[in-house]
Amino acid sequence: MKKLKIILFWFVLLVVVIVVGSLTYIKFALPDVGPAPVITVERTPERVARGEYLANHVSVCIDCHSVRDWSRFSGPPTEGTYGKGGDRFDQKFGFPGVYYAKNITPSGISRYSDGELFRVITTGVNKEGEAMFPVMPFHYYGQMDEEDIKSIIAYIRTLKPIENVVPKSSSDFPMNFILNTIPHKGTPSKIPAKSDLVAYGKYITNASSCIECHTRVDKGKLIPGTEFGGGREFPFPDGSVVRSGNISSDMQTGIGKWKKETFVALFHAHSDSTTLHTTLKPGDFNSIMPWTMYGKMTNEDLEAIFAYLQSVPAVNNMVVKFSPVKK
Ligand code: HEC
Ligand code: HEC
Repeated sequence: MKKLKIILFWFVLLVVVIVVGSLTYIKFALPDVGPAPVITVERTPERVARGEYLANHVSVCIDCHSVRDWSRFSGPPTEGTYGKGGDRFDQKFGFPGVYYAKNITPSGISRYSDGELFRVITTGVNKEGEAMFPVMPFHYYGQMDEEDIKSIIAYIRTLKPIENVVPKSSSDFPMNFILNTIPHKGTPSKIPAKSDLVAYGKYITNASSCIECHTRVDKGKLIPGTEFGGGREFPFPDGSVVRSGNISSDMQTGIGKWKKETFVALFHAHSDSTTLHTTLKPGDFNSIMPWTMYGKMTNEDLEAIFAYLQSVPAVNNMVVKFSPVKK
């Protein structure tokens, strides 16, 4: 009996040492994505123009990093707040903590070198070496062409500086530990030739992280086999719920039967002035998809996304896109 107690004692001690050791490692040795690259991003007019297009209409940085106007469909960013930050993502929306989109105008990011910006956009490790929660889809940005990331950096450095001090983000337990295991090194690619429509479309689809909202998730992870099948739920503060559409190639429940023209027109329709300037009444259908921003993507890019989506496996999933507040 005594012997058993001694064995048990050592066993418990060993477990405690392993647990404490691992937590210490996770907390202090991670995230480890290596030092920020030493680069100087030359601000050429070509880069600034490409970066403006990507940051506003493809990777939609400006969507999260501005004040969205929820009185209008799809919450377009308010003029004069571009890059200012402050948007709050918290437990009300299902996040494991409180995360604030940061000020990415020159006032907010002047402390960053170009290499540090490159690292935070592509891995989620900030200037101070801390891991960020992937509200921001940095794992997708990490797969983009390095030249595109440099263009985005060149562009955000030209934003109008806005003084706005944003609170620090914080994660609840156990995310405050898990968080450090999330960042990993990027796996950059080259933009495929536009003649290879599906490959080029895959690149643009990744750069705009459509898959993240259009796939169901379990504890923050995409559920394999449901990619692009829609049905991910997004609650609004008023209690209504919007669910992403099925954009897989399924003939019945997805967009398998859609025409390319319908798809492209849907995007443009949402960014024209009629939709943009219509104010919603409480209870009206609204969406968190930044339609007004994606709506200004070029026809070429939208058609490529469509071609790629038609090539992904069909997911049979009938989605009810909106449930208004229950009275
Ligand atoms: C879905 C929302 C979302 C999108 C899209 C997004 N971000 Fe962010 N970003 C955030 C949030 C939230 C944080 C803060 C995360 C945290 O503190 O854990 C952040 C942090 C940052 C930071 C760190 C700033 C600092 O002061 O440390 C930079 C730089 C940044 N984002 C740039 C970008 C760029 C460039 C893009 C587009 C390529 C982009 N973001 C797209 C939500 C977003
Ligand atoms: C922030 C989350 C989010 C992102 C990012 C997003 N979507 Fe959506 N999407 C939604 C939601 C929610 C809906 C359902 C409500 C609506 O129609 O707006 C939707 C609806 C759609 C629809 C209409 C489907 C139908 O059956 O009517 C299409 C098409 C679509 N998205 C394509 C895309 C593409 C392509 C991308 C990437 C360029 C994308 N979405 C990125 C959330 C998102």
